[in-house]
Amino acid sequence: MTTDTTGTAARDGEPRRGGPADSPFVRACRREPGPHTPVWFMRQAGRSLPEYREIRANVPMLESCRRPDLVTEITLQPVRRHGVDAAILFSDIVVPVAAAGIDLDIVPGTGPVVAEPVRTAADVERINPIGRDDVSYVDEAVRLLVAELGDTPLIGFAGAPFTLASYLVEGGPSRTHAKTKALMYGDTELWHALCARLAEVTLAFLRVQVDAGVSAVQLFDSWAGALSEADYRRYVLPHSAHVLAGLADAGVPRIHFGVGTAELLGAMGEAGADVVGVDWRTPLDVATRRIGPDRAVQGNLDPAVLLAPWPVVEAAVHRILDEGRAAPGHVFNLGHGVLPETDPEVLTRVVALVHELSARPAA
Ligand code: CP3
Repeated sequence: MTTDTTGTAARDGEPRRGGPADSPFVRACRREPGPHTPVWFMRQAGRSLPEYREIRANVPMLESCRRPDLVTEITLQPVRRHGVDAAILFSDIVVPVAAAGIDLDIVPGTGPVVAEPVRTAADVERINPIGRDDVSYVDEAVRLLVAELGDTPLIGFAGAPFTLASYLVEGGPSRTHAKTKALMYGDTELWHALCARLAEVTLAFLRVQVDAGVSAVQLFDSWAGALSEADYRRYVLPHSAHVLAGLADAGVPRIHFGVGTAELLGAMGEAGADVVGVDWRTPLDVATRRIGPDRAVQGNLDPAVLLAPWPVVEAAVHRILDEGRAAPGHVFNLGHGVLPETDPEVLTRVVALVHELSARPAA
């Protein structure tokens, strides 16, 4: 037996066992069999947890994202409490955009609000390239977390160009994305210039996280479901594909997720994902037919079901695990983020239930 620098025991001549790269989560992303179906929750670190609300009481959101001590503690909270199979870095999709020089804030109960919306060529020029020094707090937090987490993988993440562009062009959250689409259809050249800049910022942000040791990345294109497949392919896919292709040699699985994307699932896979996130509207067996055999799926419990009585939750977990068997790999998750009013005890029970129902005897 020898011990490598990560403290992982390995027999000479045999592939290395143990460590986050061999975890149930990373194995499922790679479509390899594992001991059970892995589970984590989008927005698992956040307002559903009293310990989160306490630590955030007097610290604004963006400031908390820039303090490695707080990022580390908040990221670890749901891992300790629920026993999830992966941690997700506590940050926000607008953190790299702020680092790129855009004046913005995250307003409680609203979301990101941009001081001067980005709508002209001169505005696009204000988005600067970023490097590690611009987000050194993320580099530091990931390194601290990787040391703390041991065999539990850490997921890094970023926002995809379309979803980031929507916040920048609208100036804040939008139901219709009307100004964003007006720019996309009305000045296609400027649209592509904006998305190309954002793709570089996103890629650089993810690179920092990969270099610091995350075991997987998730590209959130939360609002891509606002587009038809034809428009998605024309205006959005090339930019997301640039980000995902830029990580092809990073050696970590790439998850690609959006909401309301039933019609886009195939295209989002083609953009270069190893795992496609599916919301609750599309059963995982149907989603798998649309995505194809070369990618795993992640999802897809409706977050609102967690507010229902336990037998309802239990039945939904059974159904999703059954439907997920059609996929070449399944990471259990919600169809979107945990709602703040969710009882954390229910999340803990879901983790235990997924593990119990999916347990496979060791090969
Ligand atoms: O546990 C985790 O998932 C990690 C943390 C995380 C946050 N934001 C923290 C956060 C992640 C992965 C995100 C991503 C994010 N941010 C997305 C993509 C995922 C999705 O939900 O679709 C988007 C669209 C944003 C933009 C954003 N930031 C929104 C819509 C909000 C919520 C606004 C609100 O208060 O209702 C935020 C703020 C935010 N980001 C909070 C957290 C924990 C709430 C801040 C608080 O505690 O007040």
